Amino acid sequence: MQKKRFLFSGKETVFYFDAVFNVVEKIVSKEKAIIVTDENLFQTYKRKLKGFNTIVLKPGEQFKVQQTVDVIIDQLILLGADRQTTLIGFGGGVITDITGYVAGIYMRGIEVGYIPTSLLAMVDAAIGGKNGIDVGLYKNMVGLIRQPSFLIYDYSLLKSLPLAEWKNGFAEIIKHACIKDQKMFVELEQNSIPKYKKNPSLLAKLIMHNALIKIKVVQQDEFEKGDRKLLNFGHTLGHAIENMYQLSHGEAISIGMTYAALMSQQLKFYKEADRVIRLLHQYGLPTVANFDAKKAFRILLKDKKKQDDSINYILLQKTGKGVIQPLLLVQLQEIFKQF
Ligand code: GLY
Repeated sequence: MQKKRFLFSGKETVFYFDAVFNVVEKIVSKEKAIIVTDENLFQTYKRKLKGFNTIVLKPGEQFKVQQTVDVIIDQLILLGADRQTTLIGFGGGVITDITGYVAGIYMRGIEVGYIPTSLLAMVDAAIGGKNGIDVGLYKNMVGLIRQPSFLIYDYSLLKSLPLAEWKNGFAEIIKHACIKDQKMFVELEQNSIPKYKKNPSLLAKLIMHNALIKIKVVQQDEFEKGDRKLLNFGHTLGHAIENMYQLSHGEAISIGMTYAALMSQQLKFYKEADRVIRLLHQYGLPTVANFDAKKAFRILLKDKKKQDDSINYILLQKTGKGVIQPLLLVQLQEIFKQF
């Protein structure tokens, strides 16, 4: 196990890499912990969860809504949760998002920790403190930025992960490579999902490397005034079409990254959109979509990144170097017309 401590705005988050689930009992006593998870994970990991107070939710992004927040709060009250309670999100991004949000508002804030069970949550969703819920088609419209106290990485949890979830995780890993890490981009080109699955130490290295990329970006700009915006590469269009077409997050941002790479060629003289598209294919991700560009643009107007008449779009200057490009909405609308 590798225990690493990081400070975010003066608050410490402890990362337990290469750890096992049971480490949680060394961090929080069973009496003070309440684990939030979903029905699938609860069934699969019944034995691990034995003896813990649990709140079990229906699985799926469609339940990352206010109604589920109300259900969790009712159960917390029933279980007698107080300010000494630590909530633990045991699951993928939906679980960590909603658990973090409830922990931030219950009794004006209680401690929260995560045990991510998906690749996507391990490299992205569980890190960075952003949490929240969707409102209608608008993803993550309501939420907080609030850091967890700990994250436990138990890679054995990935054994039960379906292929679609591996692809979701790799979409975020490819994003990190595109905006920050040319060397990792090359490593990804030389590998594939089956190769990483067959090589646990290579996978563990990749996960920790990606977690560290995200941690560093968030430490430098927790409240997204600057560089953290780069993490939105592929997400502006991606979020607009994700709920519109019930795409997985990986599929949606893969399409978003494809169009952002093509826009980078038009606007930033980026030369390797083909290479990005090839890599996305290599990891089983889609790169074309017949989406309603007008509707996507209307949804995008509600994007949290929009400011008056412009939006910060993330483009690529080089493979491994993302840039923040303010675009006038009228300009973006013209670009969207070509899609
Ligand atoms: N929870 C995801 C993030 O903070 O980016």
